[in-house]
Amino acid sequence: MPSVDYQRLVMPLGEAIFTQRSIRRFRPTPIPMEDLRLIVEAAVRAPNGGNRQITRFLVVTDRARIREFGALYREAWWAKRRDEGHAWKGIDDIPPEEKTHRAAAGLADEMKDVPCVVFALAMPPGVANSVIPAAQNLMLAARALGIGSVPTTLHPSVMDRFRTMFGIPKDVAFHFCIPLGYPQGTFGPNVRRPTAETTFLDRWGGAVPWP
Ligand SMILES: Cc1cc2nc3c(=O)[nH]c(=O)nc-3n(C[C@H](O)[C@H](O)[C@H](O)COP(=O)(O)O)c2cc1C
Repeated sequence: MPSVDYQRLVMPLGEAIFTQRSIRRFRPTPIPMEDLRLIVEAAVRAPNGGNRQITRFLVVTDRARIREFGALYREAWWAKRRDEGHAWKGIDDIPPEEKTHRAAAGLADEMKDVPCVVFALAMPPGVANSVIPAAQNLMLAARALGIGSVPTTLHPSVMDRFRTMFGIPKDVAFHFCIPLGYPQGTFGPNVRRPTAETTFLDRWGGAVPWP
């Protein structure tokens, strides 16, 4: 039995799953360290290949470090847009209908002010398969505590500086950058395509018996 008090995660699982959506605007309120611990304890309970437990978390709450990282994150975000072929130079160039890109660009500006950033890493570098369930557990546990999150990535052009900034060795792989904080807005519902379009029964293309 873990020494951590997991009974504090009392939100019904269905509520956590169905109301978890990307939170990209955060209040500045710090997250108590005991809650950060509980979130990480939940994360490491996720299934992982051979129980080798390659996932490593770097939890950053230091304001100066987050501020410094924010500039790097912003640079990475815009580098990814260039890779996608967008000519956008700033948030005002992003068309209004590109809602996710606009929200994500807003996060790129605000990353420097988030209360906490968690980096999901792997040592030794392995496939992301083992990190992904842990990252999702982490975000669901955060949701249960009223803490918002969003999984994000960086860009090759900033990786050396990122490693230097946090002293991360070369043989540790980066997978996700997950800001955490109490939301400025509200949680879910999250919007998805009907499962009848994305799920098949018994064979590829087999219709499921629900609308
Ligand atoms: C692998 C992965 C990478 C993502 N990268 C980013 C990112 O760099 N920036 C961002 O703001 N959101 C990122 N997201 C969040 C998605 O945009 C978001 O989950 C999706 O648009 C669905 O929206 P919802 O979570 O609000 O329902 C990422 C999600 C995943 C799973």
